[in-house]
Amino acid sequence: VEENGTSRDLLLTLDRTSGLRAGIESALRDAVRSRRLRVGAVLPSTRALAADLGVARRTVLAAYQQLAAEGYLDCRQGAAVRVAWQPPEPPAAPASTTWEPRWDLRPGRPDVSTFPRTAWIAALRRALAGAPSKAFEIADMRGQETLREALAEYLRRVRAVVAEPANLMVCAGFTQVLFLVCQVMKERGATTFAVEDPSTPRYRDVVESAGLTPVAIPCDERGLRVDLLARTTAAAVLTTPAHQYPTGVTMAAERRQALVRWAREADAYVLEDDYDGEFRYERHPIGALQALDPARVVYAGTASKTLVPGLRLGWAVPPPALLPAMLTWKERQDRGNSVADQLAFAELVTSGEFDRHVRRARLAYRSRLDRLRTAFPRVTGIAAGMQAVLPLAEPEPAVLARARRAGLALQGLSAYTFEPRDPALIIGFGTPPAHAYGPALDALAAVLSGR
Ligand SMILES: Cc1ncc(COP(=O)(O)O)c(C=O)c1O
Repeated sequence: VEENGTSRDLLLTLDRTSGLRAGIESALRDAVRSRRLRVGAVLPSTRALAADLGVARRTVLAAYQQLAAEGYLDCRQGAAVRVAWQPPEPPAAPASTTWEPRWDLRPGRPDVSTFPRTAWIAALRRALAGAPSKAFEIADMRGQETLREALAEYLRRVRAVVAEPANLMVCAGFTQVLFLVCQVMKERGATTFAVEDPSTPRYRDVVESAGLTPVAIPCDERGLRVDLLARTTAAAVLTTPAHQYPTGVTMAAERRQALVRWAREADAYVLEDDYDGEFRYERHPIGALQALDPARVVYAGTASKTLVPGLRLGWAVPPPALLPAMLTWKERQDRGNSVADQLAFAELVTSGEFDRHVRRARLAYRSRLDRLRTAFPRVTGIAAGMQAVLPLAEPEPAVLARARRAGLALQGLSAYTFEPRDPALIIGFGTPPAHAYGPALDALAAVLSGR
């Protein structure tokens, strides 16, 4: 056999007890029978496999010829040796029973169809072409310096965060920031971590996974009930001050002041989840809470709403007292985010493309919000972001069941609460894509009218 399929690697574990040739034949037969090698797969050349196994080439040749005779392999003169047979397909897995809604108005997601692919590709190309080789090493757990510089400038400018490249760290989304803060609190002896009621159950789960007990602090129409924090032993509180998730309330000025006062007095920390700070629709934007006391507030932001969640890009500006320990946990957990993504994002921000994209997205979400408000004038929590509260006149389960029958995915407020509240829907107006948004609102109107 003379083959062209030269230098492909193949891992074979040889049982040499009944001879080398028999060992090779049996290992190859097993690989084909177990479907590890499928029909058409190219095998290494006899020369390469002989060298890998440390056996004579003629031994491999004889094994290949034997398996060709048995119908397992196809050994043709001058061509690569390929697998010629495979066992019949295993029975198909039962059809997936997951429900595929026709429209989705659940909260938490941006319109991923607007991801600026062209700008991202251009930014990636420019960034990779210009990056020094050193950028591809694992060096600084805070992340790429170019991105930290770009983000510090951006956060000071857009969110009035007190940020310097030296005290900013790049993370895998907000989720990782929360995880790191929890680990550090646990290490410092904390047992409880305060969260808002209502809030995202996923984050309670992260808190619990770090061995801390989440303590629910209610939110009212002025935001987090900061006065109740003093009754807890919480070492930190997770809050969404600019636009409470999911109720959409903006934390009142005196509560913001009281919150940092509590942190100082209790030697505790505030984790500020600024998940949708860029999408403010009112005249007077609210700056980051962190600026009130950068020694007590961990500022956290994410690209999950402004770009797409799948990038897993977020950032934290922790107090100097917490940064080193958070970096230690970052190193333990993943040793840093993808360099290519960090460089591309830095380029997107410094070139001004990111601001342009956010401005376009803000206009688009604003117009979606206007349509939602026109169709459902009772929505609240709409100062920012891409979710709104729609009060219901009947229990949530009845509405959710009718919606499901109509192919419409909805989320009730009760999915987020610790204590019962009046029935309501949390409408996410970031999805579906533009062409399906009108029909989705029509479907919602039909469901609410009992049709
Ligand atoms: C309240 C809240 N915070 C933060 C995030 C972003 O999380 P991440 O950055 O881990 O994707 C989301 C949604 O994705 C959210 O709903």
